[in-house]
Amino acid sequence: MARAHRGTSHVFSLTGDLEAAAEGCGESALNSGFVSDSPTISESAVAAVLDSALIAIEAATDMTALKAAKSAHAGESSPIAALNGQLRDVPADQKAAFGKLVGQARARIGQAVVAREADVAVAEEQQRLVSETIDVTAIAPLRLAGGRHPLTTLMEQMSDVFVSMGWEVVEGPELENEWFNFDALNMDADHPARGTQDTFFVEPEDRHLLLRTQTSPVQVRSLLDRGVPLYVVSPGRVFRKDELDATHTPVFHQLEGIAIDKGLTMAHLRGTLEHLAHAIIGEGARIRLRPNYFPFTEPSAELDVWHPTFKEGPRWIEWGGCGMVNPNVLRAAGIDPDVYQGFAFGMGIERTLMFRNGVSDMRDMVEGDVRFSQQFGMVV
Ligand code: DAH
Repeated sequence: MARAHRGTSHVFSLTGDLEAAAEGCGESALNSGFVSDSPTISESAVAAVLDSALIAIEAATDMTALKAAKSAHAGESSPIAALNGQLRDVPADQKAAFGKLVGQARARIGQAVVAREADVAVAEEQQRLVSETIDVTAIAPLRLAGGRHPLTTLMEQMSDVFVSMGWEVVEGPELENEWFNFDALNMDADHPARGTQDTFFVEPEDRHLLLRTQTSPVQVRSLLDRGVPLYVVSPGRVFRKDELDATHTPVFHQLEGIAIDKGLTMAHLRGTLEHLAHAIIGEGARIRLRPNYFPFTEPSAELDVWHPTFKEGPRWIEWGGCGMVNPNVLRAAGIDPDVYQGFAFGMGIERTLMFRNGVSDMRDMVEGDVRFSQQFGMVV
């Protein structure tokens, strides 16, 4: 400590009495030229340095603070190191005593650092354990199982009504032959639905392929595949050149039904549809048939359903089309209409879901937001 010995001589006292020390050499340790941050060695100076070191070490609550306290109070330029340095200048007779005093103080500081290091390490470990705690008893957020689309479940529900009456469920192709979609269903070559404005034709044109505009072609396919008697329903996707808005979508679903047997009448048609209405809408539902025209049925009817719990009050709602299968359709499938007769019907699934469940915008059905599906229950 060059600064501490700037050409002065000092008297040291184990009593710590600086006045006495000053008397001995005619100069007070306080005005001996020492810079104030370096205490002059004395009993009280050692005690003070030790005290402040212990306080600083105790006050350190983390390793960084403790490291700083260690370097300030036990490092090379710490007050205790300064006092230690001054031992050289202590008179020989007091050297041992001062040496012991400073040595003990240094040892105390060293022990305090070690003890504090252990405490801080435990505290820091404790803190880490708390902050990194994983509650193994907590229920992990399960991946949502999703929800089946209500159109799918409704189609199945409607099909099941028929399965329970002994009917079968069949599928038809979405990419359909023009003949099945129109000709076989007794639709003229110039029927407006055949126009490219309404129908998606698939190139090359001479293949006469299109995206089916209705599920009715399954009537003829089933007659050809299965023959008679025939009781089938066919749910599926159909395509029309409609803009997507609240009540239209270019892709939608229908349920088609056809029953061909000996002696079937409109009474059977009516009873069948009434049963369907009860199963899908509820026991309070009723149906009515209004005369209409479809090329593939004769007579044809518009099917209305009385919905007693409709969102905006009980009312009649247009549900689909139906009628007695036109003899020309039976003939197209090679069946003698004088022997076999029957009925057919078709209705939109989206429409059914809309009025049954109060869905006001069809776009909700195609956007694929799982929250829409979940409202209908998680039937899997
Ligand atoms: N295919 C008709 C449509 O898409 C609905 C229809 C009407 C189906 C009468 C039928 C029926 O089976 O007999 O508008």
